[in-house]
Order: sequence, then C-alpha cells, then structure tokens
Amino acid sequence: MLTVTTIAGVRARRAELDRLGRRVALVPTMGALHEGHLALVRRGRELADEVWASVFVNPTQFGPGEDFERYPRDLETDRRLLEAVGTALLFAPGVKEMYPRPPLTVVSLPGLAERLCGAYRPGHFAGVATVVAKLLGIARPEVAVFGAKDWQQVTVIRRMVADLDMPARIEVLPTIRETDGLAMSSRNAYLKPAERVAAARIYSALVAVKDAVVGGERDAAAVAAMLAERIGREPLLTVQYAEAVNPDTLERNEKIAGRVLLVVAVHAGTTRLIDNLLVEVPS
Ligand code: PAF
Repeated sequence: MLTVTTIAGVRARRAELDRLGRRVALVPTMGALHEGHLALVRRGRELADEVWASVFVNPTQFGPGEDFERYPRDLETDRRLLEAVGTALLFAPGVKEMYPRPPLTVVSLPGLAERLCGAYRPGHFAGVATVVAKLLGIARPEVAVFGAKDWQQVTVIRRMVADLDMPARIEVLPTIRETDGLAMSSRNAYLKPAERVAAARIYSALVAVKDAVVGGERDAAAVAAMLAERIGREPLLTVQYAEAVNPDTLERNEKIAGRVLLVVAVHAGTTRLIDNLLVEVPS
C-alpha cells in the first residue's frame, strides 16, 4: 500500500492509472477505523481496479466546542487495517496540505444541510461537502463509497454530486452494527462502560418503532414521539432529536407513505451518537 501525504502525490498516481485505464474507488474517512469502514473498503475493491482510502480529520466540519481536538487519531493502526483489506493507496494529508489558506469557496446546501443534525451542528455539512468535493477533485475516483449510518451526510453528498455534475458515482452501504445492534462509529470509543450498554437501546427502539410503522402507524409525529419516548426510557441517554422523515428530502410529511426514515441523534454522557433505520411501508 502506498501512503501519500500530498495532493501532488495522489494526482501523480491517478495520472498513472489513467494511462493504464484503471478505475479507482475512494473511501473517505476520518480514521479511527472500525469494521464499518473496512466493509466500505472491501466493497470498493469489488467496484474498481484499486481501492483508495483517505484519512483526514477535517477541522471545518467540527463546530466550536465539538470534539475536533480529542477525535481519536491512530494513523499507524489505520494503515495496518487498510493494508490488510487490500487498500492500494492511503491519502493521509495534514491540515496545511488540505487548507494552505482559509478557503473562500464553500459548498453549502441550504435547507437540506440545515435539517436534522444540521440544526444542531451549523456549518457541519458545508464542511463535509467542501472536503468531499476536494477529495473527489484530488483523487478523481470513478466511485466513492460511504456508509448509511451518516444518512444525512450521504444525502448531502449525493445532492452535491448531482448539482455540480461531479463524475464520481456514490455507493452507499448498510450500517454495520455491533452484536447488540449499536451502529459502529469511531465515537463509540468515547463511551463509558455503562453508556456503552445503554447505547444499545437506540437500535432496539428503532426496531420497535419500525414494527409499529409496519403494523399500521402512519402519523409521523406520533412515530417520532414514540421513538423519543422509547430511547428516553434509558436514563443514560438524552434524545437530541428523533424524527420520521422522507429519506430523500429529509422533510417530515404528516402522514407516512412509501419509504420513511427513522432517524435519531442521542447523547450518552458527552458522546453524541446518530443512527437511522429505513422502513418500507406496505401499500
Ligand atoms: O464520514 C466521515 O468520516 C467524514 O464526514 C468524511 C466523509 C470523511 C468527510 O470528512
């Protein structure tokens, strides 16, 4: 596996692959890799001739007081994990390489980026969209692979790619879960043992509410309230939001019809966790 820290280095390797007619799948990450990330890399290998990963803790997607400083960083372990699953190139730039000067150009998606997590993390999705636009521009992958746990992120990226006619195809993989259902996340490492146990309640609540929707509940507000109430039964969890929304627009329709996304953000102590579950409503 080639480890590259400069944009010029990535471009040089990409130019070689262009000459050879080889396709690239890119898995953008912030490191602290877990099985969820590795599943994205494995899928990338199936989709292209080479899979590349980026590890970059992007400062512009963290708000003041968020966990940018303490975000887990262990590049050596990430390197070993990526190599073991067949990554051909790791792009691990420093902040100065990605942002040699404060960027004037920002990709913003008003509305879409302001709902759900965006309401609580102003500027977060502009930071994500901008860095993903940069990574797609640097690596020029044929396909980029993301996880469905960050559903709003994926929705934002898909819309950006469509609006700006970016050539990369966006591939989304289902959330990988621990055996008790907790969605894998680099931030799970922050959880204290009791919080870790409590956090399993998020997925069990999503499943119980999915059953209620499949069973006939169609009132989106009632579904959202049920979800918040079920998670809130666990004293170590505090619900930031719980919603039942249209999976494409992330807007809440009064009545549920077709596909609905159950989506939550929850605090366990100081750790913020997100999760979601897609429900197909039988007609
Ligand atoms: O999902 C992440 O890890 C990040 O938001 C991403 C897509 C790598 C952009 O920094």
